[in-house]
Amino acid sequence: MNDHFYLTDDQRMIRDLARKIARDRVARHAADVDERERYPEESIRALMEAGLYGIWVPEKFGGADMGCLALSLVAEEVAWACAATATQWLDQPLGGLPILLAGTEAQKEKYLPRLATGALLAAYSLSEAGAGSDAASLATTAVRKGDHYVLNGAKQWCTNGDHADVITVFATVDRSKRAKGVTAFLVEKEFAGFSVGKKEKKMGIRGSPTVALHFTDCVVPADQRLGEEGEGFKIAMQTLDITRPATGAMAVGIGQAALDAAVGYAKERKQFGQPIGAFQGIQFMLADMAMQVHAARLMVHHAARQVDVGIRGNTYEASMAKCWAGDAAMKVTTDAVQVFGGYGYTREFPVERFMRDAKIMQIYEGTNQIQRLIIAKALLETL
Ligand code: CAA
Repeated sequence: MNDHFYLTDDQRMIRDLARKIARDRVARHAADVDERERYPEESIRALMEAGLYGIWVPEKFGGADMGCLALSLVAEEVAWACAATATQWLDQPLGGLPILLAGTEAQKEKYLPRLATGALLAAYSLSEAGAGSDAASLATTAVRKGDHYVLNGAKQWCTNGDHADVITVFATVDRSKRAKGVTAFLVEKEFAGFSVGKKEKKMGIRGSPTVALHFTDCVVPADQRLGEEGEGFKIAMQTLDITRPATGAMAVGIGQAALDAAVGYAKERKQFGQPIGAFQGIQFMLADMAMQVHAARLMVHHAARQVDVGIRGNTYEASMAKCWAGDAAMKVTTDAVQVFGGYGYTREFPVERFMRDAKIMQIYEGTNQIQRLIIAKALLETL
């Protein structure tokens, strides 16, 4: 895509670096990571060694402070190579941005420099078995006892919860207050009463661990609370306003990978004496796929740039970008499998993995139905 006229030199530089690392050092492990459902250790290390873990962290805390568009550019490149690795990589800002948004100076100094290098890994834990889309109904309790809180309950679907050193956990100090009771805590893996539970067996992004977390009289020092009591829900949503465009970017990366594979195959595969790309039926499919990916990328870049210029309240555009890009990835990867025909349905080719990986893009960081609710609410709130 010709984006040279609006990307800065720094943004192009980080995009090109991410593309090189993703293609040289991440892509080659993607099929094995998926097949064996294993942690993408080498890929994560490659991203850390290239300095890509700290691009969202301010310079004073050791990061490159490059903003949301840079985050999205890197997310797309890494997801092009391996969506599981991209999910792991994006979990660092997902878990760490709440510290940047609501942390004290002491909390920022304690965690951000090590999150910037990858010396510490972060995770974000909002969802529970009974509180997915309805996040404000979460039931993990936090009770203040002197200089600490006691957390009890269970979280679910926590990306990277088994590898994270510090997890931003959302609990409630008063469930009857719904969103206004939600409070955020920085829980370290060594805290007494914290344990990691069941690891899910998933359809896609199989190299990205998704686990349950258990809190049994878990003692959390009061200075590990993020923001004030009752501010947790806003912190959770403000974080998603920044990470949803980047999640859309991961979907763009998967869609672009599927398009690239389908174009390559359409040139090589011959039927009826000519490459299948010479048939108009295939040409129209490829053109539609390209338009879906292109539109998704533009929406992601627009929502991300809003964050970078300091526009507050980008929820509407962030939800649109995430939703459109997730749906586009699902459609484009399904069509890519179709272009490959029977071969596409086998694990000899990567397009079936792309299709399985695309599905989560319509589910996590808020289902695409929730994104539509957010968009519709914004449209109708002036009524
Ligand atoms: N920024 C700031 N404040 C916000 C906000 C935002 N984007 N969105 C909501 N709020 C505030 C509201 O203003 C309101 O505050 P006031 O009462 O002071 O006005 C408060 O939060 C409650 O908002 P709502 O009344 O809109 O809350 P709701 O209960 O109706 O829920 C929802 C809204 C949009 C459905 C929300 O629950 C939601 O986004 N649900 C989906 C949850 C989600 O995305 N989960 C994904 C988990 S992360 C994940 O998947 C990551 C992973 O593993 C990779």
